[in-house]
Amino acid sequence: MSSEHDPRNRLNDLDAREWTYALRSVISTAYPTRGPESFAHHLRRQHPSPKPPQLMAELIRFFTRQHGHVLDPFAGVGGTLIASSLEGRTAVGIDLSAEYATIYQAVCAELQIAPQTYVVGDARNLLELPEVRERPFDLILTDPPYAAMMARPKTGERRKRGRPNPTPFTTSAADLGNLPYHEFIGELCTILTAALQVLRPGGYLVIFAKDLQPTPEHHNMLHADLVIALRQVPGLEYRGYRIWHDQSQRLYPFGYPYAFVANQMHQFILIFRWRGDGKG
Ligand SMILES: C[S@@+](CC[C@H](N)C(=O)[O-])C[C@H]1O[C@@H](n2cnc3c(N)ncnc32)[C@H](O)[C@@H]1O
Repeated sequence: MSSEHDPRNRLNDLDAREWTYALRSVISTAYPTRGPESFAHHLRRQHPSPKPPQLMAELIRFFTRQHGHVLDPFAGVGGTLIASSLEGRTAVGIDLSAEYATIYQAVCAELQIAPQTYVVGDARNLLELPEVRERPFDLILTDPPYAAMMARPKTGERRKRGRPNPTPFTTSAADLGNLPYHEFIGELCTILTAALQVLRPGGYLVIFAKDLQPTPEHHNMLHADLVIALRQVPGLEYRGYRIWHDQSQRLYPFGYPYAFVANQMHQFILIFRWRGDGKG
């Protein structure tokens, strides 16, 4: 904790300067994928989209205090859980895949950190889990599937460059990443709304979202559709977003030489505060 910590600040352990730095709207990163600073990326990369623990750690430092408690209902190989350990927080992660849980255990062994609580199961049943009901969370930090983005066949340049084709997270029917767009949004909002029941009033819900390419039928701005859907939840306030610019993303010549097709080297980090009073 900083020596200049303001006693009125009950959200985090940052001083005014650290707080201000944490408000920059774009987080532009180039995290190493080798060596100790990669946090066992060689193991985590078996997952199609692991999140860098350093990135999750930055968010955890802002939205919790030392010893805070963090929930990730879509834990994967543990980006949020590893970050919680690094920052002296406790965490509970849920994921459908026993394989990702095993990789997370191997990562913890390599990094010599004690594993956080990891439940293999369907996040749709999270309120039935004793590990989730044990004590209220200070933060829900999660990186859900982005509708069926990973389950779609790759096109053009990505296919030529030998990316596996396609790369769904799991083949399970319970995997939100295998659902059509609008069904996905409905299921995700149901899970997150249930999770709010175990978030302390004043706690934050922070969600990663990546947009899909537009189609003639829909703009496919997943981040905007999620905000619209979650703003319907009484007691949940949308507070704004930050952008993660991932410098490791390749720039593809999509559309060349015919028409514009967007590259996406960024993701949205959507921030909601849970008032918990049901007054919306
Ligand atoms: C974008 S990944 C999360 C990656 C994670 N942030 C990491 O660092 O590894 C989304 C995860 O959601 C999981 N998932 C999809 N549907 C689920 C469900 N119904 N319940 C629990 N997990 C689910 C997938 O298995 C996948 O690992």
